[in-house]
Amino acid sequence: MNKFHTGPLIYPVDLCLNVKDMDMMVEFYSDVMGFDVLKKEDKRVIMGVPGNKILSFVRPDDVIQKPPRRTGLYHFAILLPDRKYLGSFINHLRDNNAPVTGGADHEVSEALYLQDPEDNGIEVYTDIPDSQWTWKGDQVNMGTEPLDFRGLMELGKDIEWKGMPEGTKLGHMHLHVSELEEAFLFYNTLGFQRVAEMGGTANFISTGGYHHHIGLNVWNGKGADPAPENATGLRYYTLAVSDEDSLGKIFRSLAEKKYHVTIEEGVLHTQDPSGNRIKIEIA
Ligand SMILES: [Fe+2]
Repeated sequence: MNKFHTGPLIYPVDLCLNVKDMDMMVEFYSDVMGFDVLKKEDKRVIMGVPGNKILSFVRPDDVIQKPPRRTGLYHFAILLPDRKYLGSFINHLRDNNAPVTGGADHEVSEALYLQDPEDNGIEVYTDIPDSQWTWKGDQVNMGTEPLDFRGLMELGKDIEWKGMPEGTKLGHMHLHVSELEEAFLFYNTLGFQRVAEMGGTANFISTGGYHHHIGLNVWNGKGADPAPENATGLRYYTLAVSDEDSLGKIFRSLAEKKYHVTIEEGVLHTQDPSGNRIKIEIA
């Protein structure tokens, strides 16, 4: 069991994207990314691995392309349960000539980056054991070193890629926000702590000592506006808590600080100050 994606922590579990071309997106996420279609409805498709919903797609009737320089998704990050699967995934991408936009060893994780056909950022990563992370006080050391592509491909070469393995989950979200401190104060209200900063333009926040459950950056410009509701890109993402008490506590804290918050059928709905919509559910 992964101790950073379970109760009593609050952590991301799934996300929903507005899409323009549903068929093309489902094909990409099936064939290239290796997710299963878990449910197909008229205007909504849910994908993930057996027993774990990870992402869903909705096609708004009046969908438009997301305008540039807005808040929203920078990337979502898929956490594989073992390093050998990252190697196998890289071999699968190479065999299928799938474009990769980058890779990095972050000293807490090894990560591969790509874009989907509608320009949503995707990271696929595996964690380096937390016993090897280094901390300076309450700040974790995260760097950007070259990814060991050769070592990973060698490790993965004996595993036939059969899609995302059991145990795959949404590891973290990385969001464009309009103002860092304002965003941090909101997420701090949910219980997240700041564990790393990058040049005054990005914050990494987590619960339970993870290297980050959420990244926040102002790389689309300070003061950036949210995209229109019918634009492609992030529709909402979901955080999980372990019980009703935690959900109630978060509801009261948000309401006390005058953030917009409602609860419908046991699901809390809110949005961060940059307009990124969030659902919070009991896992
Ligand atoms: Fe990331």
